[in-house]
Order: sequence, then C-alpha cells, then structure tokens
Amino acid sequence: MKHCLVTGGAGFIGSHLVERLLQLGHRVSVIDDESTGSVDNLAAVMGSPNLSYTKASVAEQDVVRRTLADVDEVYHLAAAVGVELIARSPIHTIETNIYPTELILDEMSRLHRAGRAVKLFVASSSEVYGKNPKQRWDEEDDLVFGSTARARWSYGASKAIDEFLALAYWRQERLPVVVGRFFNVVGPRQSGAYGMVLPRFVEAALKGNPLVVHDDGQQVRCFAHVADVVESVLQLTAAPAALGGVFNVGSDQPVRILDLAHKVAAQINPSLPIEFVSYSRAYSDDFEDCRHRVPRLDRLHATIEHRNRFTLDETIRAVIDDKRRELGLTERNS
Ligand SMILES: NC(=O)c1ccc[n+]([C@@H]2O[C@H](COP(=O)([O-])OP(=O)(O)OC[C@H]3O[C@@H](n4cnc5c(N)ncnc54)[C@H](O)[C@@H]3O)[C@@H](O)[C@H]2O)c1
Repeated sequence: MKHCLVTGGAGFIGSHLVERLLQLGHRVSVIDDESTGSVDNLAAVMGSPNLSYTKASVAEQDVVRRTLADVDEVYHLAAAVGVELIARSPIHTIETNIYPTELILDEMSRLHRAGRAVKLFVASSSEVYGKNPKQRWDEEDDLVFGSTARARWSYGASKAIDEFLALAYWRQERLPVVVGRFFNVVGPRQSGAYGMVLPRFVEAALKGNPLVVHDDGQQVRCFAHVADVVESVLQLTAAPAALGGVFNVGSDQPVRILDLAHKVAAQINPSLPIEFVSYSRAYSDDFEDCRHRVPRLDRLHATIEHRNRFTLDETIRAVIDDKRRELGLTERNS
C-alpha cells in the first residue's frame, strides 16, 4: 500500500484520481482549499478509512510539511484553473500556480537529502504552448506566449515556471519528478462555472437555453475523458522511463468547438439554437485565444501502455448523464 498526497483532490480531475488510487488499495491524503473544488466531489469515498482530507491551502508550509513527512508519491493538481477565472483574477492565478509548487519541491528536496525519495507528478497544461502556430505540438516545441499586458497568458506562463522548477530539481538534485501537460480534460463532475466549454454547453442544452459559442466556433481542441487521463497519469508516475520527462496527456482527436456544440445538441435537443458571442463580450477587449490546439502523443505512447478508451460521443454522453443527475432532471424532462 502506497501513501499518496493529491493536492487539489476535491477538484474535477483530482477527485477522479483520488477515487482510482483508493480503488487500487492505496492510502490517500488530500489537501484542497475548496476554492474551485468541493468536498461533494469526494462524496463516494469520504467514508473510506484510507482517505484523509484536509481543507487548507497548499501554500501553507506547516500543512504541506506535515503531510509530506509520510507520503510516497505526490500528485500536484491544485491550481487556479479556467479561462474565466484567470481573466478575472490574474494575481491569484500567478500566486497559486507558482509558490505552492516551489514549496512542495523545496520540502521534497529536504526529505531527499535525509534519504527519502518521494515521487512528484506535476499537472501542467497545453496552455504552455501558448499560440505556437504548429498543427500538432510535441513536447520539444517552443512556448509562444502573447504580451504580458494580456492576463490570459499568465496561466500558461505560470505552468511553464512550474515545469522549469520541477525539471531543475530533477537535474540538480535527482528529485523524481514527472510533468504531464493536460490537453482538454472533460467528464463527470467538471464545473462550467469557470468557463469550461463542454459542461457549459451541456448545462445550457439541458435547461433549453441556446449554446453560446465564442467567436466563430472554428477553434480546434481535443477532449479526453477524465478516466483516460487519470490512467495515463498513474502509468506515467509508475514508469521509470518517465522520470525527469515532460509528456502531453489527453486526446489527439481534433474537433471544432462549433461541431462540439452540434454534438451536444444532437444528444439532447437538435433544434436548440446556437448563439455566437465575441471574445470581447465573453471576456475582455484584449482577450487573445489559441485557435488550434492538438498534441502529438508519440512520447506518451512510447512510455506507457494505456490508450484512450472513450470516444468523444461517449464522453459527451457521460457528461450529460452526470449533469442530469446534478440538476435533478430525467431524460424526459430535459
Ligand atoms: N481540466 C482541464 O482540462 C485541464 C487542462 C490542463 C491542465 N489542467 C490542470 O489539472 C489540474 C486540475 O484541474 P481541474 O480541471 O481538476 O480543476 P479544478 O478547479 O476542478 O481543480 C483544482 C483544485 O485545486 C484546488 N485548489 C486551488 N488552489 C488551491 C490551493 N492554493 N490550495 C489547495 N487547493 C487549491 C481547488 O479548490 C480545486 O479543487 C490543475 O493543475 C490544472 O491546471 C486541467
């Protein structure tokens, strides 16, 4: 039995990871400040004797130090996430995404010097590629951010700093770290409150509202089911060949946002209208988006055996079923 710490374990991806680790028979500690997550996400496992939950910030040194003293692996997922949140709170984004990573690495380094090797998985993001114009991004590609006057890039830049930090500790001190760059992760329990597109579409469609598409809807993204992402994370963290490496994680199947809206409507009510809203109305006048975001997964596939099991339509179905439950709707009244 391993003891794993999941920061951000009450969040969307974190809660699925916690459930899976417990299912595999491990002991799990969670630190989450519930800023965007909720303890409700862990309702199915809250009574487990192998789960210990602390509502606190990962910026609190004493909490991190106490928890780390006894763990074998850390999955660092706590972060300020979501385009809307970032546009609204750039200071919070930068501070939340950089300082705790530094704190965890520093504490791990102390333990390492005392003879204890704790493994660290760092959740990074496809946002680190910024607006690199390549059709498919691989891990060695340049990071191309917009101007610092545009707050949106602070999220990708803060995640890039996390990567630099983690890789520096690997290079300099041989701390066992793995970095996963998540592309769009979707599935049950994801909140639409911070601008995530699929839960937003599904919730609107179930309420009979128009699906709001930003700009012209021609932006290209790849969506992976959270269960597939969690499996990739677990296999990467367990793979000796992954240590000190950076990996794209997610799906490499592109879809246009407008087509995603049509797919959601097709499963709920094909006659629902689609409404186009400019970026300046949705976010701000200086908002800049990335039009095309597709990964190469060669490195991931050369390192782990897992291959995604869920198609996009199955994933959309799972999100619809989950939102229906959350909104107390049946298939007939939505
Ligand atoms: N969902 C995606 O598509 C996606 C894509 C790329 C990267 N990621 C990364 O994956 C990770 C998880 O994202 P998610 O989609 O589950 O988002 P989420 O908002 O559901 O999860 C983040 C969790 O971290 C917690 N948190 C935030 N600040 C904290 C702090 N200072 N101390 C303790 N807890 C704190 C939140 O309460 C929340 O539970 C993040 O690091 C995110 O950057 C997600």
